[in-house]
Amino acid sequence: MDIRFLGQACFELSEGDARVVVDPFLKPNNPVSPVTADEVEATHILITHGHADHIADAVGLAKRTGAHCVAVVEIASWLSEQGVEAVSDPNLGGTVEFDWGWVKLVQAFHTNTIQLAGVVIGPPAGLVINIGGTTVYHLGDTCLFSDLKLIAERTPVDVALIPIGGHYTMDRHDAVLAAEFVGAKTVIPMHYNTFPPIEADAGAFKADVESKTDSQVVILEPGESHTV
Ligand code: NI
Ligand code: MN
Repeated sequence: MDIRFLGQACFELSEGDARVVVDPFLKPNNPVSPVTADEVEATHILITHGHADHIADAVGLAKRTGAHCVAVVEIASWLSEQGVEAVSDPNLGGTVEFDWGWVKLVQAFHTNTIQLAGVVIGPPAGLVINIGGTTVYHLGDTCLFSDLKLIAERTPVDVALIPIGGHYTMDRHDAVLAAEFVGAKTVIPMHYNTFPPIEADAGAFKADVESKTDSQVVILEPGESHTV
C-alpha cells in the first residue's frame, strides 16, 4: 500500500484499484500541496471534520471523480446537500466496509465547524482505516488524550498519522506521548508547516519518538510517498 502525503492532513492511500483520499485540501487552497484537485484521482474520500483545511476540496473532487465519501452523519448530510451522490454517514464507533477494507470513526478532541455554513455540525473524528490488510490510524485534529491507547488496543495500528503542529492540535511534544500510546510500527507526522502558527521541527519529533518508543518515524514532504 502506498501512502502519499499531500500536505496538512491530506493523504492518498493506494492499494490495487483503490485510491482513498483523506481530508482533501489541495492547491491552491492548501499552500503546500503539490497538486490541484484536478490532478488527484479518488475512488473514496474520507473526512475527519469540517474545517476548511480538511474539507475544502471534498465536494469538487467527489463530483469530478464520483468518489464515495465517508464522514460523520452531519457532514455527510451537508455533502449530500452540496450534490455529492455517494455518501456514507456513520457516527463515532461506526464502521463502513468496502471491497478494499473498511474505515471506522473514532474519537478526537477538537471542534468542528463548516465555516461557510457557520454552524457546528457534529463531532470531529479520527479514522481507523484498514486497506489491503494494513491498518492506518489518521488521528485527525486532536489534542492528546489517553484513549488513543484504547483505540490502538482495539485495533493494532501499523501506521499512525499524527498531528505535530500545535496551536490547533497537539504539539510535537504531546505527539511523542501520542505515538507511545498508539504504538504503531510507523509514524508519519502531519498538520505542521502549512501555516506560520503550526510550524514544527519534525526532525526533533522523530528523534524524540525513536528514542522513547519502538516506532519508526517517516517524515514525508508534500508530494512524497511511503510504501508499507
Ligand atoms: Ni480542525
Ligand atoms: Mn486542521
